[in-house]
Amino acid sequence: MAEHKLLLKHADDPAYQTLNGYQSTGGYKSLAKALKMEKQAVIDEIKASGLRGRGGAGFPTWIKWNGLAKEKKTEHYVVCNADEGEPGTFKDKQLMETCPFLLVEGMTIAAYAVQGDVGYIYIRAEFMDAAKAVRKAIDEAYANNLLGKNILGSGFSFDLHIHLGAGSYECGEESALMSSLMGERGMPRLKFPHAPLPTVSGVWEKPTLLNNVETFACACPIISGGGEEYAKLGASTKNSRGTKIFSVSGHVNKPGNYEIEFGTPLKELLELAGGIKGGKIKACIPGGSSMPVIKPDEIDRAIIGYEEFGEVGSMVGSGGCMFFNEHTDIVMLCWRTAQFYANESCGKCTPCREGTRWMNQILDRIVAGNGQKGDKELLVEVASQIEGRSFCALGEAAAWPVKGFIRQFPEEFDYWIEHGKSPVTSKESFALVP
Ligand SMILES: Cc1cc2nc3c(=O)[nH]c(=O)nc-3n(C[C@H](O)[C@H](O)[C@H](O)COP(=O)(O)O)c2cc1C
Repeated sequence: MAEHKLLLKHADDPAYQTLNGYQSTGGYKSLAKALKMEKQAVIDEIKASGLRGRGGAGFPTWIKWNGLAKEKKTEHYVVCNADEGEPGTFKDKQLMETCPFLLVEGMTIAAYAVQGDVGYIYIRAEFMDAAKAVRKAIDEAYANNLLGKNILGSGFSFDLHIHLGAGSYECGEESALMSSLMGERGMPRLKFPHAPLPTVSGVWEKPTLLNNVETFACACPIISGGGEEYAKLGASTKNSRGTKIFSVSGHVNKPGNYEIEFGTPLKELLELAGGIKGGKIKACIPGGSSMPVIKPDEIDRAIIGYEEFGEVGSMVGSGGCMFFNEHTDIVMLCWRTAQFYANESCGKCTPCREGTRWMNQILDRIVAGNGQKGDKELLVEVASQIEGRSFCALGEAAAWPVKGFIRQFPEEFDYWIEHGKSPVTSKESFALVP
């Protein structure tokens, strides 16, 4: 099966980064169409499309769009999460660098639908090329009445700004992102039902729509082709519609971003990426480093879809799909992953702050050859104490991979603990430098 490119169709053409080039492929027809529709009709198209958030949680997009007040009493904000901190994921970066107008147009359509006044694109500062490409697109859009006052003579006005984040994984969590955007420390806030939803009280306590880069970009093909047409893609799956960009990395011959239709078998994604390199396949983390690992028999039968990945014990997440060959030391991989989450825990809540460090310390001693009997069980115990108890989902992001590695490869942990060295003896062994 080939790729199904809706978003990345023109990504290889540098002209697509200019307004002229973008418009010559049909760009901005979606916004022109949307501006002639009722606002609710735009939201209804998103509903018909079955689009779910591409940032990780897979939440139905139309519910968020529909959640902002129809009877407008105050400013409405539209925020794009372009933080993309999950290891293994690099699709938003490419989307912004090569298709910046898709994001700008998609956000403008969203703003029209939810009566947004001002938008912010929160981009991690390491993504300088992405920020520059988006900056250029915004400037061109302003110069051509596609942003600012009275867009295309419709009476609708919308301003769009870029905000550079300093590069903290936690700042990709939506409530922490909003705090950071407002100049506060990037820490999560209380969530619904203990606090109002962002659509009711978000940035500066005003109704806020927050979506991922890819989610906003999807609004363009949905409006131009119609929600029902979009929903035909992925119709073989339970509840995943459209296309999804997967960032494929690890031991593959052609790492990169691949846009596929939901319902595609995972092994076909591996084929698109040129197949496994350097040995037989051992494992795959299909949705970014916070997702549980799966083994070859599961890779063979996995179908790409939110519910379908659940059937093999993992998740779509943000689409950071990493493949590992037989020379990979799973315990080292687990250790490196745990280090990342311990470093990135914002420290606000005890289960995550302490738990991630405990997991890291136990793994430190295992890979130093000083593992103790019971360490494997202790790791599972600590991970279980974090899961469901942390202030935000960074806790789960740290706990799930550790539990997944131990559930799938217990013998490798046992070997390390018993012998004080790796069970992987090949010279090609996947070395992970801390
Ligand atoms: C610790 C943490 C980090 C996250 N990082 C990102 C991120 O970098 N980009 C992103 O879009 N969503 C990220 N999310 C998910 C966001 O909180 C949020 O669900 C998403 O941006 C909503 O957009 P969507 O509905 O379009 O997916 C993260 C969540 C957590 C808990």
